[in-house]
Amino acid sequence: MCPSLPDTTGSAVPVSATPRVALVTGAGQGIGAAIAKRLHGQGLRVALLDKNGDGAAALAGELDPRGETALSFHADVIDVGAVRNVVRDITATWNAPDVLVNNAAATAAGSVWDIGLEEWDAVLATNLRSVFALTRLCAGEMRRRHWGRVINLASLAGQQGGALAGAHYSASKAGVLVLTKVFASELAAHGVTVNAVAPAAVLTPAAQALDPEALARTVGTIPVGRAGLPSEVGGLVAYLASEEAGYVTGATFDINGGIHMR
Ligand SMILES: NC(=O)c1ccc[n+]([C@@H]2O[C@H](COP(=O)([O-])OP(=O)(O)OC[C@H]3O[C@@H](n4cnc5c(N)ncnc54)[C@H](O)[C@@H]3O)[C@@H](O)[C@H]2O)c1
Repeated sequence: MCPSLPDTTGSAVPVSATPRVALVTGAGQGIGAAIAKRLHGQGLRVALLDKNGDGAAALAGELDPRGETALSFHADVIDVGAVRNVVRDITATWNAPDVLVNNAAATAAGSVWDIGLEEWDAVLATNLRSVFALTRLCAGEMRRRHWGRVINLASLAGQQGGALAGAHYSASKAGVLVLTKVFASELAAHGVTVNAVAPAAVLTPAAQALDPEALARTVGTIPVGRAGLPSEVGGLVAYLASEEAGYVTGATFDINGGIHMR
Protein backbone atom coordinates (compact mmCIF):
# COMPACT_ATOMS: atom_id res chain seq x y z
CA MET A 1 0.00 0.00 0.00
CA CYS A 2 1.24 3.51 -0.77
CA PRO A 3 2.62 4.90 2.55
CA SER A 4 1.16 8.37 1.93
CA LEU A 5 -2.39 7.04 1.88
CA PRO A 6 -4.42 6.35 5.05
CA ASP A 7 -5.27 2.77 5.87
CA THR A 8 -8.66 2.34 4.21
CA THR A 9 -9.05 -1.36 4.90
CA GLY A 10 -9.79 -1.32 8.64
CA SER A 11 -12.58 0.13 10.77
CA ALA A 12 -11.27 3.69 10.68
CA VAL A 13 -14.76 5.18 10.94
CA PRO A 14 -14.94 7.22 14.17
CA VAL A 15 -17.64 6.21 16.62
CA SER A 16 -19.65 8.82 18.51
CA ALA A 17 -18.88 9.02 22.25
CA THR A 18 -22.52 9.64 23.23
CA PRO A 19 -25.35 7.54 21.82
CA ARG A 20 -26.84 9.02 18.69
CA VAL A 21 -30.44 10.19 18.76
CA ALA A 22 -32.87 8.98 16.09
CA LEU A 23 -36.31 10.36 15.32
CA VAL A 24 -38.51 7.86 13.48
CA THR A 25 -41.91 9.03 12.24
CA GLY A 26 -44.78 6.59 11.94
CA ALA A 27 -43.03 4.31 14.43
CA GLY A 28 -46.19 2.89 15.97
CA GLN A 29 -46.44 -0.10 13.63
CA GLY A 30 -45.15 -1.70 10.45
CA ILE A 31 -41.89 -0.61 8.89
CA GLY A 32 -41.43 2.38 11.24
CA ALA A 33 -41.72 0.13 14.29
CA ALA A 34 -39.17 -2.30 12.81
CA ILE A 35 -36.78 0.59 12.11
CA ALA A 36 -37.15 1.96 15.63
CA LYS A 37 -36.48 -1.49 17.13
CA ARG A 38 -33.43 -2.01 14.97
CA LEU A 39 -31.89 1.40 15.67
CA HIS A 40 -32.53 0.96 19.39
CA GLY A 41 -30.90 -2.47 19.24
CA GLN A 42 -27.84 -0.81 17.73
CA GLY A 43 -27.51 1.50 20.73
CA LEU A 44 -29.25 4.63 19.49
CA ARG A 45 -31.70 6.58 21.61
CA VAL A 46 -34.93 6.46 19.69
CA ALA A 47 -37.85 8.90 19.58
CA LEU A 48 -40.96 7.22 18.19
CA LEU A 49 -43.39 9.71 16.67
CA ASP A 50 -46.85 8.65 15.54
CA LYS A 51 -50.28 10.16 15.20
CA ASN A 52 -51.55 6.94 16.78
CA GLY A 53 -49.97 7.41 20.20
CA ASP A 54 -50.86 3.95 21.51
CA GLY A 55 -48.65 1.87 19.21
CA ALA A 56 -45.64 4.14 19.65
CA ALA A 57 -46.08 4.29 23.43
CA ALA A 58 -46.37 0.50 23.68
CA LEU A 59 -43.25 -0.04 21.60
CA ALA A 60 -41.24 2.60 23.47
CA GLY A 61 -42.25 0.92 26.75
CA GLU A 62 -41.21 -2.46 25.38
CA LEU A 63 -37.82 -1.12 24.24
CA ASP A 64 -37.05 0.68 27.49
CA PRO A 65 -39.65 0.76 30.29
CA ARG A 66 -37.55 3.39 32.12
CA GLY A 67 -37.83 5.77 29.17
CA GLU A 68 -34.13 6.54 29.13
CA THR A 69 -33.37 5.33 25.61
CA ALA A 70 -36.79 5.14 23.95
CA LEU A 71 -39.60 7.70 24.12
CA SER A 72 -42.87 8.07 22.24
CA PHE A 73 -44.33 11.31 20.92
CA HIS A 74 -47.90 11.78 19.79
CA ALA A 75 -48.08 14.09 16.75
CA ASP A 76 -49.36 14.28 13.20
CA VAL A 77 -46.61 15.04 10.68
CA ILE A 78 -49.02 17.33 8.82
CA ASP A 79 -48.90 19.67 11.83
CA VAL A 80 -45.55 21.42 11.51
CA GLY A 81 -46.01 23.26 14.82
CA ALA A 82 -46.59 19.99 16.69
CA VAL A 83 -43.60 18.37 15.02
CA ARG A 84 -41.43 21.39 15.87
CA ASN A 85 -42.43 20.94 19.52
CA VAL A 86 -41.48 17.26 19.37
CA VAL A 87 -38.03 18.11 17.98
CA ARG A 88 -37.63 20.73 20.72
CA ASP A 89 -38.60 18.18 23.42
CA ILE A 90 -36.21 15.55 22.04
CA THR A 91 -33.43 18.13 21.98
CA ALA A 92 -34.14 19.19 25.58
CA THR A 93 -34.25 15.55 26.79
CA TRP A 94 -31.30 14.08 24.89
CA ASN A 95 -29.86 16.03 22.00
CA ALA A 96 -31.08 17.22 18.63
CA PRO A 97 -31.77 14.24 16.33
CA ASP A 98 -28.67 12.90 14.58
CA VAL A 99 -30.79 10.54 12.51
CA LEU A 100 -34.15 11.37 10.97
CA VAL A 101 -36.26 8.64 9.39
CA ASN A 102 -39.16 10.11 7.44
CA ASN A 103 -41.35 7.03 7.42
CA ALA A 104 -44.91 8.18 8.27
CA ALA A 105 -47.20 8.11 5.28
CA ALA A 106 -50.77 7.63 4.25
CA THR A 107 -51.07 4.58 2.01
CA ALA A 108 -53.83 5.42 -0.43
CA ALA A 109 -55.38 3.67 -3.42
CA GLY A 110 -57.96 4.80 -5.97
CA SER A 111 -58.48 5.42 -9.65
CA VAL A 112 -57.30 8.74 -11.09
CA TRP A 113 -60.97 9.49 -11.85
CA ASP A 114 -62.11 9.02 -8.28
CA ILE A 115 -59.48 10.81 -6.18
CA GLY A 116 -60.93 14.04 -4.83
CA LEU A 117 -58.77 17.16 -4.71
CA GLU A 118 -59.04 17.38 -0.92
CA GLU A 119 -57.82 13.80 -0.66
CA TRP A 120 -54.99 14.63 -3.07
CA ASP A 121 -53.91 17.56 -0.90
CA ALA A 122 -54.10 15.51 2.31
CA VAL A 123 -51.96 12.68 0.92
CA LEU A 124 -49.39 15.09 -0.53
CA ALA A 125 -49.23 16.99 2.79
CA THR A 126 -48.76 13.80 4.81
CA ASN A 127 -46.31 12.04 2.51
CA LEU A 128 -44.31 14.86 0.90
CA ARG A 129 -44.71 18.24 2.60
CA SER A 130 -43.91 16.60 5.95
CA VAL A 131 -40.60 15.30 4.58
CA PHE A 132 -39.69 18.81 3.43
CA ALA A 133 -40.70 20.39 6.75
CA LEU A 134 -39.15 17.79 9.07
CA THR A 135 -35.89 17.61 7.17
CA ARG A 136 -35.53 21.38 7.40
CA LEU A 137 -36.35 21.26 11.11
CA CYS A 138 -33.64 18.68 11.85
CA ALA A 139 -30.96 19.37 9.23
CA GLY A 140 -29.80 22.73 10.62
CA GLU A 141 -28.42 21.19 13.80
CA MET A 142 -27.01 18.17 11.93
CA ARG A 143 -25.22 20.56 9.61
CA ARG A 144 -23.88 22.63 12.52
CA ARG A 145 -22.49 19.45 14.16
CA HIS A 146 -21.24 18.16 10.83
CA TRP A 147 -22.95 14.79 11.22
CA GLY A 148 -26.39 13.60 10.25
CA ARG A 149 -28.37 10.91 8.49
CA VAL A 150 -31.73 11.43 6.84
CA ILE A 151 -33.52 8.39 5.45
CA ASN A 152 -36.75 8.81 3.52
CA LEU A 153 -39.22 6.00 2.90
CA ALA A 154 -40.25 6.24 -0.74
CA SER A 155 -41.88 3.40 -2.70
CA LEU A 156 -41.77 1.44 -5.92
CA ALA A 157 -44.98 3.37 -6.66
CA GLY A 158 -42.88 6.56 -6.76
CA GLN A 159 -40.65 5.02 -9.42
CA GLN A 160 -43.21 3.32 -11.64
CA GLY A 161 -46.69 4.35 -10.54
CA GLY A 162 -48.53 1.70 -8.62
CA ALA A 163 -50.71 -1.25 -9.49
CA LEU A 164 -52.09 -1.01 -5.96
CA ALA A 165 -51.39 2.61 -5.04
CA GLY A 166 -53.28 5.70 -6.14
CA ALA A 167 -51.88 8.55 -8.25
CA HIS A 168 -51.68 10.83 -5.20
CA TYR A 169 -49.61 8.29 -3.25
CA SER A 170 -47.37 7.57 -6.25
CA ALA A 171 -46.83 11.27 -6.98
CA SER A 172 -46.00 11.97 -3.34
CA LYS A 173 -43.38 9.21 -3.32
CA ALA A 174 -41.88 10.44 -6.61
CA GLY A 175 -41.60 13.81 -4.88
CA VAL A 176 -39.81 12.15 -1.94
CA LEU A 177 -37.26 10.69 -4.37
CA VAL A 178 -36.37 14.07 -5.84
CA LEU A 179 -36.44 15.83 -2.42
CA THR A 180 -33.92 13.24 -1.28
CA LYS A 181 -31.54 14.34 -4.04
CA VAL A 182 -32.16 18.05 -3.42
CA PHE A 183 -31.38 17.76 0.30
CA ALA A 184 -28.48 15.39 -0.36
CA SER A 185 -26.86 18.00 -2.62
CA GLU A 186 -27.47 20.78 -0.10
CA LEU A 187 -26.01 18.83 2.81
CA ALA A 188 -23.30 16.60 1.30
CA ALA A 189 -20.45 18.96 2.19
CA HIS A 190 -21.65 19.23 5.79
CA GLY A 191 -21.38 15.61 6.92
CA VAL A 192 -25.09 14.96 6.44
CA THR A 193 -26.25 12.18 4.13
CA VAL A 194 -29.76 11.91 2.71
CA ASN A 195 -30.97 8.69 1.11
CA ALA A 196 -34.22 7.07 0.04
CA VAL A 197 -35.44 3.52 0.50
CA ALA A 198 -38.03 2.27 -1.99
CA PRO A 199 -39.87 -0.83 -0.76
CA ALA A 200 -42.62 -2.82 -2.41
CA ALA A 201 -45.05 -5.36 -0.94
CA VAL A 202 -43.73 -5.44 2.62
CA LEU A 203 -46.09 -7.21 5.03
CA THR A 204 -47.36 -4.44 7.30
CA PRO A 205 -50.84 -3.40 8.47
CA ALA A 206 -50.99 -0.90 5.56
CA ALA A 207 -50.19 -3.55 2.95
CA GLN A 208 -52.62 -5.99 4.55
CA ALA A 209 -55.40 -3.39 4.32
CA LEU A 210 -55.09 -3.25 0.52
CA ASP A 211 -57.27 -5.32 -1.80
CA PRO A 212 -56.20 -8.89 -0.87
CA GLU A 213 -56.59 -10.29 -4.40
CA ALA A 214 -54.54 -7.49 -5.95
CA LEU A 215 -51.91 -7.90 -3.23
CA ALA A 216 -51.73 -11.66 -3.84
CA ARG A 217 -51.37 -11.03 -7.61
CA THR A 218 -48.53 -8.57 -6.97
CA VAL A 219 -46.75 -10.93 -4.57
CA GLY A 220 -47.10 -13.67 -7.22
CA THR A 221 -44.96 -11.60 -9.59
CA ILE A 222 -42.11 -11.00 -7.11
CA PRO A 223 -38.99 -12.87 -8.27
CA VAL A 224 -37.93 -13.92 -4.75
CA GLY A 225 -41.34 -15.53 -4.39
CA ARG A 226 -42.62 -13.83 -1.27
CA ALA A 227 -43.48 -10.49 0.29
CA GLY A 228 -40.88 -8.53 2.25
CA LEU A 229 -40.61 -8.25 6.01
CA PRO A 230 -40.48 -4.97 7.95
CA SER A 231 -37.30 -6.19 9.67
CA GLU A 232 -35.60 -6.45 6.26
CA VAL A 233 -36.31 -2.76 5.63
CA GLY A 234 -35.14 -2.03 9.18
CA GLY A 235 -31.78 -3.62 8.45
CA LEU A 236 -31.23 -1.48 5.36
CA VAL A 237 -32.22 1.72 7.17
CA ALA A 238 -29.92 0.82 10.07
CA TYR A 239 -27.01 0.60 7.65
CA LEU A 240 -27.88 3.98 6.12
CA ALA A 241 -28.02 5.47 9.64
CA SER A 242 -24.64 4.06 10.62
CA GLU A 243 -21.22 5.67 10.84
CA GLU A 244 -20.05 3.50 7.92
CA ALA A 245 -22.61 4.95 5.51
CA GLY A 246 -20.98 8.37 5.35
CA TYR A 247 -20.01 8.01 1.67
CA VAL A 248 -23.53 7.10 0.57
CA THR A 249 -25.79 10.01 -0.26
CA GLY A 250 -28.52 10.97 -2.72
CA ALA A 251 -29.15 7.31 -3.47
CA THR A 252 -32.34 5.30 -3.74
CA PHE A 253 -32.21 1.73 -2.41
CA ASP A 254 -34.75 -0.65 -3.91
CA ILE A 255 -36.00 -3.31 -1.51
CA ASN A 256 -38.63 -5.08 -3.54
CA GLY A 257 -37.70 -8.76 -4.00
CA GLY A 258 -36.52 -8.02 -7.54
CA ILE A 259 -39.89 -6.85 -8.87
CA HIS A 260 -38.21 -3.75 -10.30
CA MET A 261 -34.58 -3.90 -11.41
CA ARG A 262 -32.62 -0.94 -12.75
N1 LIG B 1 -45.63 -1.79 3.31
C1 LIG B 1 -45.26 -1.65 2.06
O1 LIG B 1 -45.37 -2.58 1.22
C2 LIG B 1 -44.67 -0.35 1.57
C3 LIG B 1 -44.31 -0.26 0.22
C4 LIG B 1 -43.76 0.91 -0.24
C5 LIG B 1 -43.54 1.97 0.62
N2 LIG B 1 -43.89 1.85 1.93
C6 LIG B 1 -43.65 3.02 2.78
O2 LIG B 1 -43.07 2.61 4.00
C7 LIG B 1 -43.54 3.47 5.06
C8 LIG B 1 -44.18 2.64 6.15
O3 LIG B 1 -45.24 1.90 5.59
P1 LIG B 1 -46.07 0.82 6.43
O4 LIG B 1 -46.51 -0.18 5.44
O5 LIG B 1 -45.29 0.40 7.63
O6 LIG B 1 -47.33 1.73 6.86
P2 LIG B 1 -48.39 1.54 8.05
O7 LIG B 1 -49.62 2.27 7.63
O8 LIG B 1 -48.54 0.10 8.44
O9 LIG B 1 -47.73 2.34 9.26
C9 LIG B 1 -47.59 3.72 9.15
C10 LIG B 1 -47.47 4.35 10.51
O10 LIG B 1 -47.39 5.77 10.30
C11 LIG B 1 -48.34 6.43 11.12
N3 LIG B 1 -48.79 7.63 10.44
C12 LIG B 1 -49.53 7.70 9.30
N4 LIG B 1 -49.79 8.98 9.01
C13 LIG B 1 -49.20 9.72 9.98
C14 LIG B 1 -49.15 11.11 10.23
N5 LIG B 1 -49.80 11.98 9.44
N6 LIG B 1 -48.44 11.55 11.29
C15 LIG B 1 -47.83 10.67 12.12
N7 LIG B 1 -47.88 9.35 11.95
C16 LIG B 1 -48.56 8.87 10.89
C17 LIG B 1 -49.49 5.43 11.31
O11 LIG B 1 -50.24 5.71 12.50
C18 LIG B 1 -48.72 4.12 11.39
O12 LIG B 1 -48.33 3.82 12.71
C19 LIG B 1 -44.49 4.46 4.39
O13 LIG B 1 -43.76 5.62 4.05
C20 LIG B 1 -44.93 3.74 3.15
O14 LIG B 1 -45.38 4.61 2.14
C21 LIG B 1 -44.46 0.72 2.42
